[in-house]
Amino acid sequence: MSLAPARACGVDFGTSNSTVGWLRPGAPTLLALEAGKATLPSAVFFNADEDSTCFGRAALDEYLEGYEGRLMRALKSLLGSSLIDGHTEVLGRALPFRQLLASFIAQLKLRAETQAGRPFDTAVFGRPVHFVDDNTDADRKAQDTLEDIARQAGFNEISFEFEPIGAALHYEASLDHEELVLVADIGGGTADFSLVRLSPQRARSEDRREDLLGNAGVHIGGTDFDRALSLECVMPLLGYRGKMKNGAEIPSSIFFQLATWHTINSAYSRQVSADLQHIYRDAAARTELDRLSRLVARREGHWLALQVEQAKIDLSTAAEAVMTLDRLESGLTHVIGTDAFTAATRALVGRVAETVSTLLDQAGIARDEVDTVYFTGGASGVPQLRTRIAAELPLARAVEGDLYGSIGAGLAVQAMRRYG
Ligand SMILES: Nc1ncnc2c1ncn2[C@@H]1O[C@H](COP(=O)(O)OP(=O)(O)OP(=O)(O)O)[C@@H](O)[C@H]1O
Ligand SMILES: [Mg+2]
Repeated sequence: MSLAPARACGVDFGTSNSTVGWLRPGAPTLLALEAGKATLPSAVFFNADEDSTCFGRAALDEYLEGYEGRLMRALKSLLGSSLIDGHTEVLGRALPFRQLLASFIAQLKLRAETQAGRPFDTAVFGRPVHFVDDNTDADRKAQDTLEDIARQAGFNEISFEFEPIGAALHYEASLDHEELVLVADIGGGTADFSLVRLSPQRARSEDRREDLLGNAGVHIGGTDFDRALSLECVMPLLGYRGKMKNGAEIPSSIFFQLATWHTINSAYSRQVSADLQHIYRDAAARTELDRLSRLVARREGHWLALQVEQAKIDLSTAAEAVMTLDRLESGLTHVIGTDAFTAATRALVGRVAETVSTLLDQAGIARDEVDTVYFTGGASGVPQLRTRIAAELPLARAVEGDLYGSIGAGLAVQAMRRYG
């Protein structure tokens, strides 16, 4: 490795968490972005009480403290969705989503520069293998949009690398021999895979095309697990799948909005309030809808989504998760067991496993040739996912990498290679 610090940085703009890596001798690669931590949660809070904007953990904290305002999370999910060209209403003003993303990326840049003590004009940005499944044009458009936004945020020279390749380069730096590795990066929004030959010798070569046996990705990540868990196990407490007096099911769109991180704010529109009043009048039972009305009136959708996410994380290591849902109804608690979680997420786990299986088939690699599965990304903590992927490759050794840092660190390696 060169002794001079790299000219460019690596930016892992994640659905849930973001990092910035910068390769320089004798210092950790990831820059501290918030309170000494390398990750900045991809969240923005517009505080109406104080007419201020904050980012990351501070954004989540201010929202949870009960300030009036608007919380935005899972901003990256807007890329590749038709929402990206629209806007949201923030403190009485129309804020284009592109500008919202640009302000978050500008914040990443500013914090990285402050920490590094120098400006960054050039960056390698990570990108999922697919921003959009099965649609090359829309996928291309999503990358172009991210590039425009990065420019708007002040970067001049931008290139892209697949997120799992970032993780592969990071893992390779720790190897003293050759391995055929399946990198599994399961984040908040996407599950991305690369099948690569890694070794210290290969790391020195300029052109790695021969070492890359294939990439695959699917638009499933931790936020989809939150959504599935919410719909199956929590939204019924608020009236989802309940009945109207005429026997029809209560219209479900509000439950989908509340269960999906990047659409929670849509549940606070005037139209939805009007719809809710009609539903309330004609519903067969009201206990659940009282909870729903309270949640929407107090704009506590993100609070509920955070409780669901925490339950999911608890279920990674415990047989059950106990949710305290006081804000829905005084004294309300709700227990979710592993079986319910497994049932709610079975289809998602199946689609992720299928993506791996197709990748191996397309690369023409036999199941027993893969030496290692390298897991990274927060959602790789879900045991059902790890077990299913490991079952595809019974002989491979499972390595659990740094769940949050390996992409940003690997993108910094790539930035040094590309830009010196
Ligand atoms: N122990 C855990 N068990 C299960 N899920 C977890 C655990 N810890 C974190 N997660 C989930 O991991 C996800 C965040 O992972 P990560 O920070 O890797 O995503 P990201 O890089 O922001 O997303 P992406 O790469 O898809 O854009 C969240 O959905 C979070 O709830
Ligand atoms: Mg990620």
